Amino acid sequence: MAFIYTTLAIIAMVFISPVIIPAALLWGLFYDVFYSELPPGIEQPLKLRFFHSLVMTTFILGKIFQKLGICSDLSLLRVVFTGIPPRRDSKLLIQDLKVDEVPLRIYQPKCPLTGKRRGILYFHGGAGTFGNISAFERICCHIAKQCNSVVVSVGYRLAPEHPYPGQYLDCLNATLYFMRNLEEYHVDPALIIISGDSCGANFATVVCQILLNRRDLPKVRAQILLYPGLQGLDFHLPSYQQNASVPLLFRKQVLYLCFRYLNKEPSVLEDVLQNHHVPETVKQKYKKWVSADIIPDNFKVRGYVPQKSTLYKPEVHEAIKEILGITFSPLLAEDSIICQLPESYIATCEFDVLRDDGLLYTKRLEDNGVKVTWYHSESGCHGILAFFGYGIFSFPSGEKIMDSVVNYINSL
Ligand SMILES: *[C@@H]1O[C@H](CO)[C@@H](O)[C@H](O)[C@H]1NC(C)=O
Ligand SMILES: *[C@@H]1O[C@H](CO)[C@@H](O)[C@H](O)[C@H]1NC(C)=O
Ligand SMILES: *[C@@H]1O[C@H](CO)[C@@H](O)[C@H](O)[C@H]1NC(C)=O
Repeated sequence: MAFIYTTLAIIAMVFISPVIIPAALLWGLFYDVFYSELPPGIEQPLKLRFFHSLVMTTFILGKIFQKLGICSDLSLLRVVFTGIPPRRDSKLLIQDLKVDEVPLRIYQPKCPLTGKRRGILYFHGGAGTFGNISAFERICCHIAKQCNSVVVSVGYRLAPEHPYPGQYLDCLNATLYFMRNLEEYHVDPALIIISGDSCGANFATVVCQILLNRRDLPKVRAQILLYPGLQGLDFHLPSYQQNASVPLLFRKQVLYLCFRYLNKEPSVLEDVLQNHHVPETVKQKYKKWVSADIIPDNFKVRGYVPQKSTLYKPEVHEAIKEILGITFSPLLAEDSIICQLPESYIATCEFDVLRDDGLLYTKRLEDNGVKVTWYHSESGCHGILAFFGYGIFSFPSGEKIMDSVVNYINSL
């Protein structure tokens, strides 16, 4: 902590001089060199290091700006994460509209119709606090073209300004709007797919779970979850431990972003990292679904240490109890819900703290008789899809994930 504050103070001093940007960049680079681990087998480590330095620089500058009262710590991250908008794709008809205050961008192939199309909802990643339609335009265009499908990208409003759980409710409203207007987009009601990456994948499955009770709407054909985050019960799963400091998402950042998302003071963050927020009864109840014991051994080869039984602190539980609700942790939904979910596609990355969330959900779905197509990227890390379509700046493993997604969709 002291180190962070000293660094903050030093950088704040530098701020008044025009060397702020290079200084911050240098800081980001130092931070990365000192703190991040680049395990053997991870793809393009130098490129990753460069991007991670940039992310850390953005984080720290954001915090300084917030301290100085210039803007929120997330503003800068939002700008940087948006990246460079692609050129408008001439093969697609792209429409912007707003439904219940939620911006949607709808991509339709211009090629002549040969029948009804698939309709794919896409909820982007960014921890519910950053990212927008522009940041994921390349992915949505790619899917629309390669799958000859209508893609609806949902610009759900971001936390903490728009408080949790508004994000998945916005996604739900967007989905309802689309399902009620399929004719207009020439979409086959039997071919609706709900998809997303990272937190967007969480919203996607939450929406699928909620829609199970809606007999008045078409049944969802499939859900596509790309490196999903699905639970806030156990932050000591093997992937959390093994990949605690692997870019682009550190274990501690997951918690930091969860707290920003839920708009909570980070005072109990360290406690939650130690799982102090989970009552023993809850731990017992869910251990058949969320536990290192169910993770196959080949995922535990390196550096995994079973966590000794942890202290339960009721005040920590009280401070952050939303994190165990099923709209935050859809992995904890009852079997009676899971068994009704649509056919699923799940992608996980080896070097991702959230890897085990995806593995555990895959297992739960399969145990409940739901067909799952699981794709595991051996060299990928969390967040690589944000670089998709940027030519030499993108990551081949991200492209492979997208190829596999496109193949999957085309098989439906
Ligand atoms: C996405 O966010 C950036 C940065 O906040 C903003 O400049 C851009 O206009 C946004 N795009 C959309 C479609 O909202
Ligand atoms: C969803 O839409 C309905 C109207 O269709 C509106 O009343 C409701 O507030 C919307 N929900 C959110 C979270 O905006
Ligand atoms: C991250 O996890 C994988 C195995 O699950 C492991 O091969 C890799 O070495 C881990 N990274 C680090 C830095 O330990």
